[in-house]
Amino acid sequence: MQDERALQSRRIVLGVSGGIAAYKAVELLRLLQKEGAEVRVVMTKSATKFVSPLTFSTLSHYPVLYQMFTSPQKYEIEHISLAEFAELLLIAPATANIIGKIASGIADDLLTTTVMSVSCPIVIAPAMHSQMWNSPIVQENIKKLLNYGFHIIEPEEGELASGGVGKGRLASLDVIVDYVKDIFCQKNTLKGVRILITAGPTREYIDPVRFISNPSTGLMGFTLAEEALKRGAEVILVSGPTYLSPPKGCEFVPVCSAEEMLTAVMKHFDRVDCVIATAAVSDFAPEKKEGEKIKKSGKELVLRLIPTPDILEELGRIKGEKILVGFSAETGNVIENALKKMERKNLDLIVANQVSREGFGFGSGKLFASLIRRGETPPPLSSISKQELAKLILEEIKKLLDRREKGAN
Ligand code: C5P
Repeated sequence: MQDERALQSRRIVLGVSGGIAAYKAVELLRLLQKEGAEVRVVMTKSATKFVSPLTFSTLSHYPVLYQMFTSPQKYEIEHISLAEFAELLLIAPATANIIGKIASGIADDLLTTTVMSVSCPIVIAPAMHSQMWNSPIVQENIKKLLNYGFHIIEPEEGELASGGVGKGRLASLDVIVDYVKDIFCQKNTLKGVRILITAGPTREYIDPVRFISNPSTGLMGFTLAEEALKRGAEVILVSGPTYLSPPKGCEFVPVCSAEEMLTAVMKHFDRVDCVIATAAVSDFAPEKKEGEKIKKSGKELVLRLIPTPDILEELGRIKGEKILVGFSAETGNVIENALKKMERKNLDLIVANQVSREGFGFGSGKLFASLIRRGETPPPLSSISKQELAKLILEEIKKLLDRREKGAN
């Protein structure tokens, strides 16, 4: 939910780099001001070739900063005072060049030094030719920035300055303003709340080189961790093996088997307010793990499997006032099965998730799912991105926490 006054008196530094879309930053400045924000503009040297600093300084009623070495003392003061001023740093448009410089730790002008000096959220809205955007170097740099906790507003598809069509146009200004508003609205809504998230698959080893597992990538849990951090929560992320990098700021606990996941979760359970179990925990493990690699003998091999502990069910028995959220991956009777799990595991919320639909579920960015609140009629299944779902889950958790707090008073 966005607040109309989300940007009222908010202090934003708008960084403008030298692409043709720099002219759009003029309108962006006006839109941010219309929302009540106080904006200071920093330009790169090449941006000043596209738009005159005078345009920005006239509109922002403040000198536009773009030179670092006008006087050395001033430079010292400028990037630090900008860093102190900024509650959010927005770079729009961001060229491949500025993205590359930031990703490589280069700080050779006022904008890049400011990037390194701020402790506030940094939002980057890239704009460039689609071939540049698709270049593996730019994509690698974007990944790097995401891992550092930067926000990236993906460029749009459409006509490009070169005359061609493709992905690379600066995101529409409304999208950028809404994104910025979203950050201010979410900020600190979960401050002081401790959330434990389980993610990824588990591996149940048969011998030193073979295991039972599943295709879970951990994306749902990692997305939730990132969204929870954005809202100021303390996050413990207990994850089975995955290629994803844990978001900056969380306490990351890597585990392998279901047993290890249970131990890690139990170790931290006392000190959290909420557990979100997204992990695809293996339901079975070999009764015995061989110490040496099993040699093939040409004969059949019989494995005896035993059930693993159901972590969430165990938490459901000792949950007390804590909030428990589960995921139910189903191929049929999706809602009915999820409701049964909600009861059996004593959950407050469950995501009924149809995994048999092509393009949804494991490894995909979206789910065909329904978020069910305890005691309420389940909404119908629908397509939803993992990021949107993460936001909805955290909003529900916030409501439950508020309700509990009111009940306690
Ligand atoms: O019973 P089912 O495995 O379908 O339940 C899914 C939910 O329970 C998920 O939230 C999952 O993370 C959790 N779970 C667990 N430990 C298990 C199996 C599932 O925590 N051994």
